[in-house]
Amino acid sequence: MATGLDSQAQDILRTNDRGGYTVPTAGLYPYQWNWDSAFAALGFAQFDMDRAWVELETLFAGQWDDGMVPHILHHVVNPGYFPGPEVWGCNGPSPSSGISQPPVAGTIVRKIYDLDPVVGEARARRLFPKLRRWHDWFLKWRSHEGAICITHPWESGRDNTPDWDGAMARIDPKDVGEYDRRDTSHVDNAMRPTRYDYDRYIWLVQRGRRLGWDQAQMAEDNPFFVADPTMTFTLLRSHRDILALGEALSEDVAGMADDIAQLEAGAESLWNNDLQSYDVRDTVNGAWANCISNASFLNWYAGIPSDGQAKHLDRIMDLAKYPLPSHDPASPKFEPKRYWRGPTWSMMNMMIGEGLIAFGLPQGERLRDATMRLIRDHGFSEYFDPTDGSPAGGQSFTWTAAIWLAWASPNARRA
Ligand code: DGY
Repeated sequence: MATGLDSQAQDILRTNDRGGYTVPTAGLYPYQWNWDSAFAALGFAQFDMDRAWVELETLFAGQWDDGMVPHILHHVVNPGYFPGPEVWGCNGPSPSSGISQPPVAGTIVRKIYDLDPVVGEARARRLFPKLRRWHDWFLKWRSHEGAICITHPWESGRDNTPDWDGAMARIDPKDVGEYDRRDTSHVDNAMRPTRYDYDRYIWLVQRGRRLGWDQAQMAEDNPFFVADPTMTFTLLRSHRDILALGEALSEDVAGMADDIAQLEAGAESLWNNDLQSYDVRDTVNGAWANCISNASFLNWYAGIPSDGQAKHLDRIMDLAKYPLPSHDPASPKFEPKRYWRGPTWSMMNMMIGEGLIAFGLPQGERLRDATMRLIRDHGFSEYFDPTDGSPAGGQSFTWTAAIWLAWASPNARRA
């Protein structure tokens, strides 16, 4: 039987379980979020394998005809969150948002399958074609020179990172109208995106809705089409994983090696030589963001070594007591408590750390140890202040509990 922090983490997953899907945290996020849910499955796989598969099956039941898997599935009506399904105005198989989120599910399906291939075989086989269709959707609609782009800051999951400040400034949200934010009734204003950002988030939702979420129409004159290391590296990694899974299951993997070559070229197109870092590029004007974020360090996770990136890693790990901050602490835009402008996120640490460990780099275990200390000393919050570890955002958070169970806990069974 689990004890101590393992048992607390399991309780958080059980408490956030709404029957077939897990909310990220009660109150602030009352629906099923795409990448949160994939990490939840990874956590469940440590103690309830059936529940882990159910989480992913519920997520993929929301897949659209064109292959897109939405970033939010609104399984219930909840006035405590804005924007709800009536604002998105989507037509998928169930009420949902109209954008996607980082494709980490393929990697997690493979991990869960590897933990127990006998239990997992039939379920992984059913998910495999759905994963391929989702990945193909990214390759068809979000690719720019092989790099994967976002059409909304929420699509990356890194909502208010300074990475998109340049592209966001191009949007004039003057006709966005009145709306009532609910997030700041759950969490301190100073830990959330600003009104300036929210006006643009909602403006982009209104634009997508006006265009019926038709990807071809949305691509025309899109003021926000930004090539992102999060999407590029997670898709590349996930494509490698589902290729390996498909081979293990003798499924059709035709064309996947070519996709991987294209994504590798795309990843290299995000190397900012002046900055000596992977960076965000605005496809509308070709401008670099000139930002070193935690997503910049996902290259190893995607199977790409980089000495230049490792230099920044050492520098930033020395600057932050609880690495890895979501934005470079040496930058004037660093804000240690404001969501993606500085705080440390456990699931990013896991992906970055796993990549480093796979390359035999000692910083990987250092990052795991820092994540273990962070959760042990400061709890299961959504994110943390990297300067002193203080908890920030929502509490009793699903992915922090899941990362504890699957990676940071000394008892984790790591696939
Ligand atoms: C939020 O509401 O802050 C979410 O990140 C949107 O997906």
